Amino acid sequence: MRKNIVAGNWKMNNNATQTKALINDLKVALEKVSANCRVLISPTSINLTSAVAATKGSVIEVSAQNMHQATSGAYTGEISANMLQDVGVKTVILGHSERRTFFGEDDTMLTEKVTTALENNLEIIFCFGELLEDRKSDNHFNVVESQLKNVVLALNASAWKNIVLAYEPVWAIGTGETASPEQAQEMHAFIRGLVEATYGKTLANNVSILYGGSVKPANAQEIFSKQDVDGGLIGGASLNATDFTGIITAF
Ligand code: 13P
Repeated sequence: MRKNIVAGNWKMNNNATQTKALINDLKVALEKVSANCRVLISPTSINLTSAVAATKGSVIEVSAQNMHQATSGAYTGEISANMLQDVGVKTVILGHSERRTFFGEDDTMLTEKVTTALENNLEIIFCFGELLEDRKSDNHFNVVESQLKNVVLALNASAWKNIVLAYEPVWAIGTGETASPEQAQEMHAFIRGLVEATYGKTLANNVSILYGGSVKPANAQEIFSKQDVDGGLIGGASLNATDFTGIITAF
């Protein structure tokens, strides 16, 4: 059966000192509660090694925010899947809307990244979601379907043990505007239906589908209570130990 997951995406926030401090605060906060879900944090790449060390022995897992599609070579400034594995990172976020928008990541590049990550035994949190104009023009289901069909729904079934999906409507990211629990459930059920149509019911039931976009302690419980919402990918609220713990305890 699928797992519930709360994953923090720190984006380009927190230097080394702040990373250690936030992990420490989070460890202290989590000792007082029982987390009924997997807990991940995604610091920037320069702080992954220290984050892995700082979280050792705790429930907190460390994921990366990105990686390059090539295994190695002349790609100045980039980080490979093997480098992530080597420092003890087991999960990578791919396809975030900010990577798609600001760094030109398209379905072709994301297919390469997903393939490379899987070849290196990394778990993937695969992000996708429609723009505001897509939703306004009632095109959101088509957009999401094509983002999935062009990348992860083309994989072999065996790859899916390492795939987590994260639906993040772009209009809800960092805007304070959340999809309603009903909108999230409607889309998550649609997504699970697409997985089922391609791979069958068992696999579809085992895939964790996270919601991302302005999740806060105040709205997490209602969103997570929906049948097909298996947790969240959290931006802003993951930068504060109390808020992030508040979201984790929504399960
Ligand atoms: P916010 O929670 O800040 O809206 O960010 C969501 C997100 O982009 C997580 O990847």
